[in-house]
Amino acid sequence: MPMKALILSGGRGTRLRPITHTSAKQLVPIANKPILFYAIEAIRDAGISDIGIIVGDTHCEIEEAVGDGSIWGVKVTYIPQDAPLGLAHAVKTAQPFLKDDPFVMFLGDNLIRDGIARLVSEFSKSKANSQILLAHVKNPQDFGVAELDGDRVFRLREKPKEPKSDLALVGVYMFDRNVFEAVDAITPSARGELEITDAIQYLIDHGYDVRWQVVNGWWKDTGKLEDMLEANRLVLDGLETCMEGNVDGKSSVHGRVCIKPGAKIINSTVRGPAIIGEDCIIENSYIGPYTSIYNGVTILNSEVEHSIILENSSVKDIGSRIEDSLIGKSVVVSKDNQKPRAYRFMLGDNSEVSVI
Ligand code: TTP
Repeated sequence: MPMKALILSGGRGTRLRPITHTSAKQLVPIANKPILFYAIEAIRDAGISDIGIIVGDTHCEIEEAVGDGSIWGVKVTYIPQDAPLGLAHAVKTAQPFLKDDPFVMFLGDNLIRDGIARLVSEFSKSKANSQILLAHVKNPQDFGVAELDGDRVFRLREKPKEPKSDLALVGVYMFDRNVFEAVDAITPSARGELEITDAIQYLIDHGYDVRWQVVNGWWKDTGKLEDMLEANRLVLDGLETCMEGNVDGKSSVHGRVCIKPGAKIINSTVRGPAIIGEDCIIENSYIGPYTSIYNGVTILNSEVEHSIILENSSVKDIGSRIEDSLIGKSVVVSKDNQKPRAYRFMLGDNSEVSVI
């Protein structure tokens, strides 16, 4: 039976405010490519072409970015979720699309280095009802955690205060149609969501065959700023150099750097891995390792390292280095020479600023 895919791209994104007040977190570019596009590519590379995308309040932006999927050679169906009532609620919402077909569910803010082709092919060959992916993590209390008994997974707990293992559930799950019996049977958790961990626990408790595998390579859930920056670092580590923009004679570019068409590097140093998007202007500045600068950004008389800057923003005359930062779209960060000398801010709700 051909497999389908379900990408979850709704949700609240509270941990990434204020970015998520105005935009979908799944469209934040990692190494200048929206996170969601990595998921679509991983699914396509696993041979699946029928993809449902769960969308919420940010559906217009997601539909505009992804379209009908034809640029990837896949067919995308959008599935609106009334409210972000949990991952298992999203599965329930998608039942008319999924019908009786086995499917892979992929959280739209997750990145998995080695893709999912092998996992999908093993699941399709097996007679398992579900297959989950696990990864060793340092902070299991922040994830769904699996407890194993030999070869068998016997318990899953959502964000346990006292985790009994360090095996977190990775945001890629495979199910057959029996999952609908589970999502119909479970009730909302203490945080008011229908939890996918409870649905999988239901499958285990009712004798369904739930298998597990530990993921190879890295995997990242980008739901928080520090994880987003780490994902950016991991992806930039594999960056291919490109030199399509213009670098003047007074500038130097070291290491793995990709400079896109229309970008101008003037009297500046760029030390990779770093990517500079189309039509950016980098002047009298330093761009350090692990920085992704998206299209149309201007950096003038400033230093930026280990950061992500989204489109059309500008950073001007900043005396200290900017590090570990995520700067949204059309943001202006500049030095103010007006009198009296003071910090002057216009910050959205939940913004974070650290000054020295
Ligand atoms: P989460 O990161 O667990 O939840 P969230 O996006 O609401 O974020 P936060 O906890 O910071 O408020 O969601 C994982 C992915 O699943 C993400 O891409 C959003 C998506 N999602 C849905 O599509 N529907 C839902 O009901 C939920 C809870 C998440």
